[in-house]
Amino acid sequence: MIRAIVLAAGKGTRMKSARSKVLHEVCGRPMLWYVIRALRGAGVEEVLVVVNDELQGERARFGVAGVLQAEQLGTGHAVKVALDELPPRQGGRVVVACGDMPLVTQELLRGTIGTLDAPGGQGAAMALVTVKMPLPSNFGRIVRKGSDVERIVEVRDATPAELAIDEMNAGIYAFDEAALRDAVTRLRPDNAQSEYYLTDTVADFVGSGKRVAPVVATDHLHVLGINDRVELAEARREMNARLCAQHMRDGVTIVDPEATYLEPELEIGADTVIYPNTSVSRLSQIGGACTLGPNARLSNARLGDRVTVRESVVMDSSIGSDVNVGPFAHLRGETVVAERVHIGNFVEIKKSKLARGVKVSHLSYLGDASVGEETNVGAGTITCNYDGTKKNETTIGSRVSIGSNTSLVAPVTVGDDALTGAGSVVTKDVPEGERVAGNPARPLPKK
Ligand code: UD1
Ligand code: CA
Repeated sequence: MIRAIVLAAGKGTRMKSARSKVLHEVCGRPMLWYVIRALRGAGVEEVLVVVNDELQGERARFGVAGVLQAEQLGTGHAVKVALDELPPRQGGRVVVACGDMPLVTQELLRGTIGTLDAPGGQGAAMALVTVKMPLPSNFGRIVRKGSDVERIVEVRDATPAELAIDEMNAGIYAFDEAALRDAVTRLRPDNAQSEYYLTDTVADFVGSGKRVAPVVATDHLHVLGINDRVELAEARREMNARLCAQHMRDGVTIVDPEATYLEPELEIGADTVIYPNTSVSRLSQIGGACTLGPNARLSNARLGDRVTVRESVVMDSSIGSDVNVGPFAHLRGETVVAERVHIGNFVEIKKSKLARGVKVSHLSYLGDASVGEETNVGAGTITCNYDGTKKNETTIGSRVSIGSNTSLVAPVTVGDDALTGAGSVVTKDVPEGERVAGNPARPLPKK
């Protein structure tokens, strides 16, 4: 079994935020979420997060164990606090990663764990990820002796010659558990920051004749540690590009990935086309051959196939196949739309059910309503669902003609095949097949 310790107790002062750094979001998920997902993907079964006071209460939603590091005395101290929490296991492996590296991949983590056990890593106490980076950099420098890693020096403790080294410590490690437990007891805060550096374990291992195996990462973005909001935006851009690339490979056309905003865990069917300035979020499920955007926002939305959503907002709602929405429509509050419905310009629909073939083409508000099959809702129709105290329901039958500018004063029911004239104010139920008009609406003479 492989364990991981995730360091996340640091204050993250450069974010200038009231929130813990690792809770800041990248494409709709906290940074910490990505790190935990990558660890699990790499085969880690047990994750222990080192947290501060603020994070302590939030930890449960990540489904991982946590341990409080009351005082942040350094990365080495944080690991010691975590190890004290975990029962020792002979021959165990421990991955240590930081909670502020949302772009880390499961492949890199798996490679690091694998290096400990690989023939070349035979007997290694530690594998660590290194990466070439442009200078200057705040990352710790990898000091080598020949091809072997000898020690890591932090920037604030480095000589000018050491600062010129462009191989950095990514801050991702795999350890032999027993060797790590032994080494952390010898860490001393004798450095420029008076902290217990986890990185000092490298020199400790080398000094006692143990091997430290480097894993050279090819892309420094994968190990980007987010320290401020500029880096947060960089991480978002990279993560979004990855998400778009994945969906494009699965058959989705994204006209401009840089102007399309996706999140993890979305489903988007093949041959769907996404036009610019469109965001899809919160576990939305989009069918095949849909057209989204330009300028669309879909959040917790479920769409069938061949649905068009242009310049519109769909939140917490589901839409059947062959439906057109927009431009400039707003669906929300558990609205359920069946197949072949048309929702046109400037229409708001809240917590309503629209059956097959309904048309609401222009300038309408339907709230707490249910509309039967093939009914046409004329321009300017309003469900007056709020009486100042509570929300009331409107029920409209099938094949009904609701005339332009009808006000439906709820609670009210309009029967199947009924008709309301233009400008009707409907305050009483309209029986099946009846035609009404006026304010208040009264039955018209039978044809
Ligand atoms: C650390 C490494 C550095 C490496 C860099 C990569 C050390 C001493 N240095 O530096 O070599 O290049 O990461 O990003 O390890 N944390 C705690 N408790 C603490 C201190 C830190 O949980 O007491 C956590 C932080 O929340 C953060 C992580 O550990 O997630 C790294 O700490 P940070 O202070 O950012 O270390 P760096 O200076 O970046
Ligand atoms: Ca850092």
